[in-house]
Amino acid sequence: MRAAAFRLPKAELHVHIEGTFEPELIFALAERNRVALPYASVDALRRAYQFTDLQSFLGLYYAAMNVLRTERDFAELAHAYFARAREQGVVHAEIFFDPQAHTARGVAFETVIDGLWSAVRESEQRYGITSKLIMCFLRDQSAESALVTLEQALPYGERIVAVGLDSAEVGNPPSKFQRIFERALAEGWKTVAHAGEEGPPAYVWEALDLLQVSRVDHGVRSLEDPRLVARLRDERIPLTVCPLSNVKLRVVDTLRDHPLARMLGERLIATVNSDDPAYFGGYVGDNFAAVADALDLPPSALVTLARNSFEAAFVDAPTRAAYLARLAVASTSAPAAASPATVVDEA
Ligand code: HPA
Ligand code: ZN
Repeated sequence: MRAAAFRLPKAELHVHIEGTFEPELIFALAERNRVALPYASVDALRRAYQFTDLQSFLGLYYAAMNVLRTERDFAELAHAYFARAREQGVVHAEIFFDPQAHTARGVAFETVIDGLWSAVRESEQRYGITSKLIMCFLRDQSAESALVTLEQALPYGERIVAVGLDSAEVGNPPSKFQRIFERALAEGWKTVAHAGEEGPPAYVWEALDLLQVSRVDHGVRSLEDPRLVARLRDERIPLTVCPLSNVKLRVVDTLRDHPLARMLGERLIATVNSDDPAYFGGYVGDNFAAVADALDLPPSALVTLARNSFEAAFVDAPTRAAYLARLAVASTSAPAAASPATVVDEA
């Protein structure tokens, strides 16, 4: 099962690039940029990864990214993600970034986006992984700050496929950003939002009705509301689910309690993703393998999850058809005959 979890070609649709910042790279960049870290070693930092909820994670997440200063830093961060993603069967990625977490520290918007974009282009050439950026607004910041960020992004519209909403959910409902999202839609961007991770189903309704989201990020608490489940199914709104994240941030008690199987049973377009893999114990293939094992999912469910990832991706129809065809080939060939190298284009 683990081999299939890695081998199947898949799109990753919920990964925060700042959440792929591995402790070794954090220390290397801290040293290069002469920034002091409040941890004595890589191991000491890793030992601090004990979270009780979303907020307890966010504190560390924002502290670590303080060492990201230069365009090269952002490029190296994204390179490291793509190298890992490739080993996990990722052929397409839609990657969140948090510009306000950097501009608030005096790092220019263009430093962030130029660094990330150089890695996007190089990974397409080197690994054949296609990708786009999703610009997230920090929902615990003001709507005015989000608007400033949106305007900074306008010259880079082509690199950004959608805008999203992340950070501390409870108390910061989607309605706070309705005007900003209307503007983003008018600029031609798609919209997504974290909703129903810690927040109630009402936040998912708001994301759909007020922010006109094309996908819901997490959305696991949607299952508490049968009418919402019916709407997500009828309108085929995908959910980007992150099983290992949900355990680490105590959205669920254990992986065995994870509602992913129920979501598939309800015929929701659920996808599996890594969220912040450097912090939560695994990349996307690891998430596929762990949740399949814990929930006893049949091999066909892994194929469904990979298919859902392409159905939910923001790509044009020919690209989607090509990825689905590639998945069809991979899911019918005998696992023993397929080496990991067949997961990505050799081109
Ligand atoms: N939820 C909300 N905001 C985030 C997360 C998350 O899981 N990861 C990074 N920012
Ligand atoms: Zn997330």
